[in-house]
Amino acid sequence: MSNVVIIGSQWGDEGKGKIVDLLSQQAGMIVRFQGGNNAGHTVMFGDKTYILHLVPSGILRDDTKSVIGNGLVVDPGELLKEINGLKKMGIECRGKLFISDAANVIMPYHKLLDGAREDRLKGNKIGTTGRGIGPAYEDKVGRSGVRFADIENNSVFKEKIDLFVDDKNKILKFVYDYNGPLLEADQVFEELNQLNLDLAPYICDTSELIAEEIKQGGHVLFEGAQGTFLDIDHGTYPYVTSSNTVAGGACSGSGVGPTKIDRICGIVKAYTTRVGEGPFPTELFDDTGKFLAKEGHEFGATTGRPRRCGWFDACMLKKAIRVNGITDLAITKLDVLDKLETIKICTAYQDKQGNTYTTIPSKQSIQKELTPVYEEVPGWQSQSSGLTDYEELPENAKKYIARLEEILGVQTCIVSTGPKREETIVRKDLF
Ligand code: GDP
Ligand code: IMO
Ligand code: MG
Repeated sequence: MSNVVIIGSQWGDEGKGKIVDLLSQQAGMIVRFQGGNNAGHTVMFGDKTYILHLVPSGILRDDTKSVIGNGLVVDPGELLKEINGLKKMGIECRGKLFISDAANVIMPYHKLLDGAREDRLKGNKIGTTGRGIGPAYEDKVGRSGVRFADIENNSVFKEKIDLFVDDKNKILKFVYDYNGPLLEADQVFEELNQLNLDLAPYICDTSELIAEEIKQGGHVLFEGAQGTFLDIDHGTYPYVTSSNTVAGGACSGSGVGPTKIDRICGIVKAYTTRVGEGPFPTELFDDTGKFLAKEGHEFGATTGRPRRCGWFDACMLKKAIRVNGITDLAITKLDVLDKLETIKICTAYQDKQGNTYTTIPSKQSIQKELTPVYEEVPGWQSQSSGLTDYEELPENAKKYIARLEEILGVQTCIVSTGPKREETIVRKDLF
């Protein structure tokens, strides 16, 4: 029995969906523990492509249970759309998907507030996904959230919704000068009750369910969303999401004690990408940046926005290894580098005063002005794409991986050589 946490080691979109799908072949249960439908996890096999936003990537396997843990903020309407979309593609969620009764609900006003706040920030906006994530987490922490367990079709709960809607309408109108149509409390209440009824067969105490699975000796896989540098505490604040994306979040976001976790697998792209605003020291604005975006099809799986691209940042990775306690690395998108003559690895940064840093400093004004210090290694200019045997990789591709392992002090368990499930090299069994 082994319980493994999968987390993003950069700014998200590292290929977590692909790796979770791959490993879910061995796991009995897959648990999402934070975030919401800001996530977009792509899984490809055969001629099929699935993009999952809230439903764990393990749902595609017949004999797995999938859990949406208490740490998520759930947009019930979007979740139902996703469940129905999966059904159309032949994947049945009933009996396989379980939603925590303690998960918080993304309310319609959260989405309006997300957009209104971004508009107001203008040049300082975060570049959110617009899904209402930040405002929903604010209400959770402010104890004015709505949890699935607490939705009731009665006058006491209705009074609460009246109050919440009235407060948010005032904020939208008077703080944000929002001049779109405001929300009607009665309508919000009715819709909430209907969505709750539709989702009722899936809602339960998922912490108990996970404990039972562990007791029975099944492997549990925890599927992180976003990435370490989007973490509310450890990321490039304020250009982050509103949850703890690091491995520690797997425990609080699912109701499992830290002693039950055996391994932490960090997913990392062979280069770096970021969607939205915020510092990105190794970002490339030249033809190489455009090449990575084109070869890697770097467009957001949730919003379709182009992803910013740059070289591998070992300084960031060292911090990710520390704050997550990463025991193994899965390197993805190695094939995207196949045609490059040389490849750069960032091993330090310098600021404008000439100070050197080996990890990203916390101060926002310094983060913005960092210049990367690079080590340049030869490319392989031959095909790694689609390979499934490590020994068959081009020599310089093996050297690149070995050099990253040497700098980071962590071994790779998986090397991904293409978007499809079958385009993978497994070097070590995680379970
Ligand atoms: P996630 O959010 O971490 O699950 O990642 P996304 O699904 O948002 O983005 C990763 C993208 O890279 C998806 O389009 C995947 O299909 C694709 N992908 C994953 N692994 C590989 C790989 O090894 N090579 C290539 N070329 N594409 C990959
Ligand atoms: P997956 O799970 C990449 C980014 C947004 C924005 C910031 C805050 O697919 O890796 P939010 O809507 O969460 O308040 O936006 O976080 N962001 C992601 N970037 N991948 C994601 O998820 C992301 N989820 C949020 O672009 O910069
Ligand atoms: Mg994604």
